[in-house]
Amino acid sequence: MKLIDVNTLTLNITNSNSLKERAKKVIPHQTGTFSRSASHFVEGIYPVYIESAQGSHFTDVDGNEFIDYLCALGPITLGYNYKAVNDAIINQLEKGILFSLPHRIEVEASELFCDTIPHADMVKFEKSGSNAVTGAVRAARALTKKEKIAYCGGGGVWHDWQAAMVSRDGGVPEFNKQLLKVFEYNDIDGLEQIFDENHGEIAAVVMEPTMYEKPKDDFLHKVRKIVDSNDALLILDEVITGFRFDLQGAQKYFNIKGDFTCFGKGMGNGLPISAISGPNEFMKIFDELWVSSTNNSESLSLAGTMAVINEMKEKNTIAKCWETGKILYDNWNRIAEENNLNVKMSGYPVRMHMDCYEHDGGVSAELKALILQELVKKGVFMSPSWVGISYSHSKNDIDSTLQIFDLVCKDIKKIENNNYKKFIKGNMPKTVWTMKILPTKKHIS
Ligand SMILES: Cc1ncc(COP(=O)(O)O)c(C=O)c1O
Repeated sequence: MKLIDVNTLTLNITNSNSLKERAKKVIPHQTGTFSRSASHFVEGIYPVYIESAQGSHFTDVDGNEFIDYLCALGPITLGYNYKAVNDAIINQLEKGILFSLPHRIEVEASELFCDTIPHADMVKFEKSGSNAVTGAVRAARALTKKEKIAYCGGGGVWHDWQAAMVSRDGGVPEFNKQLLKVFEYNDIDGLEQIFDENHGEIAAVVMEPTMYEKPKDDFLHKVRKIVDSNDALLILDEVITGFRFDLQGAQKYFNIKGDFTCFGKGMGNGLPISAISGPNEFMKIFDELWVSSTNNSESLSLAGTMAVINEMKEKNTIAKCWETGKILYDNWNRIAEENNLNVKMSGYPVRMHMDCYEHDGGVSAELKALILQELVKKGVFMSPSWVGISYSHSKNDIDSTLQIFDLVCKDIKKIENNNYKKFIKGNMPKTVWTMKILPTKKHIS
């Protein structure tokens, strides 16, 4: 049996590799973002550094071009080098970037944001998703005068103390771990158990409205009810679902209400901006909290974000992302089935996850790595973590991706005894973090 010819079809990544060697001397982990680092992909096969990007494609430093399904880890909702956003940035750049007083655009961007997002009487702009969630946690603790936080562990664990729940937790004070409780998505009993065991002590529940799993048995509304009956607050982390599931976010999509709702990534189409929003009664607490940073008022990101929101409104870009994503999602799963491979997309057409199983049903990281390796060699860039869609992904992109996926499946299905490892020519992708605090489960006495 002959697999896709690795010798003739290996990418030339010479320039990527030499930059990686230079980076090893000057940048811990060779980049500022763990999920972008070479070891997160099939290292040795994947490109490592990018030269430029346009629309839904990027070109690496060796001149190889890829259809990109990672969307810069989520921020690229419209597309790379997107004209309306570029124009807004350039227009603002001519006036200045950051000033000694706030610029008028801070007010204009806040008004546009509050007109767009449900239950947002006020908004506080920040620079990263982690900062936004951290600020909301701080505010919830200040408002409730309680300290413990219940996190939905299967659905995002991002704030500055996250390292207390996940690996790479060096330097985090021990006491912080006692303040964090974790429950699993769709496990309402687990959340109830946390409130029972920590009666009167939980300041907030922090969760993504969904990751890939759909809410079952009215889960989200039950969470809301438990939070209310315990005088706690609900912080929705919409850093990924926001500006992706609906212009009004998952609050609209699932008809739920957060007390604080946090946004980031997609709102800026790549610009460094995030936001905490909520009703006046809660947001006013920020008058009293030291949640403040020099660059929060930086005006290029505010101008770009206004352009993103206007473009999404005018062109209904999110509806198009759902349509494009659905073509990929449905046909990917059809092709996998026709080839008798259990490598299905799960989740939502705008936020997919590739699940790979061996023929006997066990999860197979090797099968996934092999698929990713073969796709990237043919110009389709996907990450082990998730698969995203932007407004710039075209029907052509999806058709080419599906054709390539079919070719890859036709070769991989010939492999006997799940012996995928033999054909992986690079390193296996490394996970970026693992959970350290185990989820609370209902005690059955
Ligand atoms: C759901 C969610 N919330 C928050 C964050 C943190 O955002 P940032 O990386 O901008 O700090 C991430 C990052 O991936 C995320 O996925």
